[in-house]
Amino acid sequence: MNNPSEEKELIRPHSYDGIQEYDKRLPNWWLMTLWGAIAFAIGYWLYYQEFHFGHEPGLAVEIQMTENRERASAKSSVLTNDSLWTLSRDQKTVDAGKATFLANCASCHLPTLTGQIGPSLVDEYWLHGGTPLEVANTIEKGEIEKGMPTWGPVLGQQKITEVVAFIFSHHQRGEPIKQAPPWIPGQVMQTPVAGN
Ligand code: HEC
Repeated sequence: MNNPSEEKELIRPHSYDGIQEYDKRLPNWWLMTLWGAIAFAIGYWLYYQEFHFGHEPGLAVEIQMTENRERASAKSSVLTNDSLWTLSRDQKTVDAGKATFLANCASCHLPTLTGQIGPSLVDEYWLHGGTPLEVANTIEKGEIEKGMPTWGPVLGQQKITEVVAFIFSHHQRGEPIKQAPPWIPGQVMQTPVAGN
């Protein structure tokens, strides 16, 4: 550090209201915040604006909000074919639907969904329409006289939505939808003994 005599020499010549200033070097901690801030600003500018490694905070918030809105609308009670297709690619929803399916539906449609007492749900043939909304409607209302129970009151909308997502996780968007001939329960299993 400076000794008192050196400091005397470093007093600046001007005087305001009798107050004089030393002419000292800026302290290191102060210089470090200055150079640090400049280095940070350059890094920040390169990272976000020049090379676009990360989304700028404003844009990041915007993207997050859009994702949240999409997820909320996909989960809202107003279902569309679009939202059901979206959910059919959402692992959590599909897993939940699979659990419901195995517990309630697999006894007739088989765990593989390939059909036994009830028809296959993985082929292109549908009895009551093959869009996600039509399938949701079939499940909700059932076809009592044909042996398909009414699931609406049993499962509620949330679980039906998840089951539909699970079924459509086995399908591709845009694949053909064909009208199935009337279903004869067990026809898949009976095929080998059809001659009897
Ligand atoms: C007791 C047996 C049984 C159970 C349990 C059952 N189904 Fe069915 N399901 C059927 C039968 C039989 C049909 C055919 C109805 C017809 O001929 O219209 C059918 C038809 C369907 C269809 C219409 C397929 C098409 O081609 O349009 C869907 C979708 C379906 N079931 C989904 C489900 C789901 C999801 C569950 C569980 C929540 C379930 N089923 C539980 C017997 C069952």
